[in-house]
Amino acid sequence: MLRTRSTARIVLVLLLCAAHAVLAQQAKPDVNAPYRDPDLRIEEWVERLEGEGREAFDLRHAIVSAMRLRPGQSVADVGAGTGLFEPLLAAAVGPNGKVYAIDIVPKFVEHIEARAKERGLTQVQAVLGTEDSIRLPAASVDVVFVCDAYHHFENPQAMLASIREALRPGGQLYVVDFDRVEGKSEPFVLEHIRASKEEFTAEIEAAGFRFVEELEIEGMRQSFMRRFERR
Ligand SMILES: C[S@@+](CC[C@H](N)C(=O)[O-])C[C@H]1O[C@@H](n2cnc3c(N)ncnc32)[C@H](O)[C@@H]1O
Repeated sequence: MLRTRSTARIVLVLLLCAAHAVLAQQAKPDVNAPYRDPDLRIEEWVERLEGEGREAFDLRHAIVSAMRLRPGQSVADVGAGTGLFEPLLAAAVGPNGKVYAIDIVPKFVEHIEARAKERGLTQVQAVLGTEDSIRLPAASVDVVFVCDAYHHFENPQAMLASIREALRPGGQLYVVDFDRVEGKSEPFVLEHIRASKEEFTAEIEAAGFRFVEELEIEGMRQSFMRRFERR
């Protein structure tokens, strides 16, 4: 009798763990709703994503330096938004390098294209992706950078497969995202971010990447930055 009860308890715990793992892998259903708004106004998003007080904005130079990009490399910024990082990535890879700025929002893609043209950043190419694909050719980039966009992926497994395919062998994937810690993170993070960095890491590793290191960025309190290598 006792044995039956403890077996049932173990089965229940395993089922709860499996359910949690499945739920953690699914993005919140409305996570991209603000971006899908047909009346989306670029100026509002530039203000929101490129304003002081946003950690990724305040630390943008340190974040890009931490990737140690080299002139001539190809980098894909997946979920590029308003293109905050494009000038910095373009400077790091130089005029002979390549920066693909990928987003699923046509207005963001058009905006990035126009800004790159204005600034003469010929190495920047904006790409309209889909919920499942970054739409780059196989083995076309050395580095993939995902800043505050991983938790927006509605189908993380498909996105990771597409990112892995686009990376050259040994290519690097950098993920910056909110560090969700139950009982510690602020309500916005607990509500908006579906999983912890350990859970994100497990998903990424399961998709054919090796977790290499967590990068220490001075002043980074709300987020984390982790480096992965394509296996
Ligand atoms: C919070 S913004 C981050 C923008 C930019 N990386 C930054 O840090 O300023 C998240 C972006 O991810 C984009 N996004 C969501 N799902 C995506 C997907 N599957 N592929 C590419 N972009 C995606 C959204 O459209 C949005 O522009």
